[in-house]
Amino acid sequence: MTLPLANRRVLLVIGGGIAAYKSLDLIRRLRERGAAVRCVLTKGAQSFVTPLAAGALSGERAHTDLFDREDEADIGHIRLARQADAVVVAPATANMMARMAGGHADDLAATVLLATTLPILIAPAMNVRMWLHPATQRNLALLRQDGVAVVGPNIGAMAEAETGPGRLAEPQEIVAALVAMLEGRAAPAQLAGRHVLVTSGPTHEPIDPVRYIANRSSGKQGHAIAAAAAEAGARVTLVSGPVTLPDPAGVAVVRVETARAMLAAVEAALPADIAVFAAAVADWRPAAETGEKIKKGPGGPPGLALTENPDILATIAQRAAGRPPLVVGFAAETQAVVDNARAKIARKGCDLIVANDVSAATGVMGGDRNTVLLVGRDGSVETWPTLDKDEVARRLVARLAALAGA
Ligand code: C5P
Repeated sequence: MTLPLANRRVLLVIGGGIAAYKSLDLIRRLRERGAAVRCVLTKGAQSFVTPLAAGALSGERAHTDLFDREDEADIGHIRLARQADAVVVAPATANMMARMAGGHADDLAATVLLATTLPILIAPAMNVRMWLHPATQRNLALLRQDGVAVVGPNIGAMAEAETGPGRLAEPQEIVAALVAMLEGRAAPAQLAGRHVLVTSGPTHEPIDPVRYIANRSSGKQGHAIAAAAAEAGARVTLVSGPVTLPDPAGVAVVRVETARAMLAAVEAALPADIAVFAAAVADWRPAAETGEKIKKGPGGPPGLALTENPDILATIAQRAAGRPPLVVGFAAETQAVVDNARAKIARKGCDLIVANDVSAATGVMGGDRNTVLLVGRDGSVETWPTLDKDEVARRLVARLAALAGA
């Protein structure tokens, strides 16, 4: 079995706080999972753990000084900031978070964090009042905006006999969050307390009791998104048209047939923090559904008059009250994917469009893989590589969690 962090190099920045002693255990756990660990200790950290201990456990000399001649000759702060796969800051003190958010470079740790282009995970730990202070929460929001991933803090008893959020996440939680970050997934429990609403599958619009019109849709992508959101700790409602897929674990599934029933189920499931409309809703339905099966007759085929279905995505995205803060649409196109997606985002009023090319040659329809583009409200386009639909879902949920400030 390959270890989850095999061949990964982690730069561990140890901040100054009573929780710094746990960073020694973190080094061991990272190494047990295959990572190579190099440590940087702030001056504050050295009041709690020694560079010697960190160096002995990591198997590499720990670094402490920006202007240390030996350090700079040996590796240098810029190479420290480059030669790894990720940077973990544990414990991240209130002061360390403030320095990161402010872009300071006043010691080796801060300079490395400013110079690095690697993904950064912070594990905050501090007194509960310091954590809840508006300044710390402001810095946290800024760091999240900058793409920094966060694990913890946990709620519990603190060194000062106070209780509340502020305890350093456990080493195994930090390792799990690091693995998730490196794999582009949302960290476990990142969406805890959030309600995510997903539509998936086709709708069936009855012509008569035995016939219907529908779009082609397996529901694989929508169901995978619901599963990934549940994995990330969200409460998930999946409103699904007729599919042959099993219900994803830990998800509340509402089964519907028609677009009108799907809209009603979506409205009944609100409020939601994030709504993802992945269903392939039929744009039209037969204007008149007959209660009896239409018989073949000498008069030739019957005419089929159609009427427009409600646009569920547009209805929810344009709601005056109770609009989910983050509304995501899909755009399955066979040509001019980006132009169509940009037009669609404006027309529907959603925040993000996940666009994909579904021309027959791509094999996306009913297949297990998908190549998507993310188109933002500002017209920005991000192209993702071809991935399993499960992986597209995990990455999308990680992105939505970040956009939702989770
Ligand atoms: O307009 P078009 O069908 O291409 O838009 C696709 C997006 O709109 C998808 O997110 C789809 O789930 C949603 N949609 C909807 N209700 C409709 C039609 C599309 O929610 N009636």
